[in-house]
Amino acid sequence: MILGIETSCDDTCAAAVDLDGRVLSNVVASQGLLHERYGGVVPEIASRRHLEAVDAVVSDALERADASLSAVETVAVTSGPGLIGALLVGLSSAKALAAAQGLPLVAVDHLHGHVTASMLGEAPIEPPYVCLVASGGHTFVARVDERASYATLGRTLDDAAGEAFDKGARLLGLGYPGGPALDRLAREGDPEVFGFPRPLPGDGLDFSFSGLKTSLLYRVRDLGEAAARARADLAASYQAAVVDVLVARALSALEQQRLTSLAVGGGVAANSRLRARLAEACADRGIDLWIPDMALCTDNAAMIAGAARFLDPLPYPDYLALDATARP
Ligand code: KG4
Ligand code: ZN
Repeated sequence: MILGIETSCDDTCAAAVDLDGRVLSNVVASQGLLHERYGGVVPEIASRRHLEAVDAVVSDALERADASLSAVETVAVTSGPGLIGALLVGLSSAKALAAAQGLPLVAVDHLHGHVTASMLGEAPIEPPYVCLVASGGHTFVARVDERASYATLGRTLDDAAGEAFDKGARLLGLGYPGGPALDRLAREGDPEVFGFPRPLPGDGLDFSFSGLKTSLLYRVRDLGEAAARARADLAASYQAAVVDVLVARALSALEQQRLTSLAVGGGVAANSRLRARLAEACADRGIDLWIPDMALCTDNAAMIAGAARFLDPLPYPDYLALDATARP
């Protein structure tokens, strides 16, 4: 059994996964409410909260897996990218747990976790495939040929897709995180009313969402008082633009790489329009689509423990000097 720990952003996560990729437990202590009033994640608050929560979250993950620490064979932990202080809490806890038991430790790239989340569970995806990851912190498409690695084909040059949803939601007067609220509001609106750009920068597969956000800002400003009445149409039209870009890039990646399997991950995979559009587009083209349970799309430690199955562990005590890295 692998015990996974993930603290790269604002959720304190621990999970137990077996060597076949069965998720035995997957615990997430969300800090969402702590950061809500600031309109975004405050790194220092996140680190402190991880420190308070991590022991209890690990105990809970073991208890839910009906296991004790002695059943753990390997400890897996996110070593980056993410908020450096937040990462260090998870990494130090994982080192301490592993060292106390003399266990090996696997340092996992958070993005590799997202990319391989569809390899967990009863019907795991088989490489080769294309993966679209769209979260609050990251947006990219990757090609996966082997389980231990992935090749990034394109990434956002500015904001992540979730950030585009959150910032758009804020412009429309919705709370934080705004993605789910914008999704709900958009259901009452008409996506055809406002024409927002569908930015597809460069010749490759990169993304750019900051101009789209600015164009919503100008729309809201130009509408003045009428913006409040047009909120649902603005939300629907803006969401349609973000979703069109994500779907277009995923399809281009599949075409360019001549692949017919697509996995999707990250919190934005909860978006109802994105799910519907991807399902339609993939059905039309004979593409097999994997969108794992939401608990495996948003930040979680099961995907970290799952990815660790494919990586070489560091034996005790070689990992004690291991450092966290904020950047990919
Ligand atoms: O993966 P995640 O939980 O955390 C990060 O690693 O960032 O993703 C959170 C992001 C937030 O930006 C949130 O607004 C967005 O996912 N999100 C959504 C929806 N649910 C969550 N965006 C659009 N529509 C949704 N239904
Ligand atoms: Zn993430």
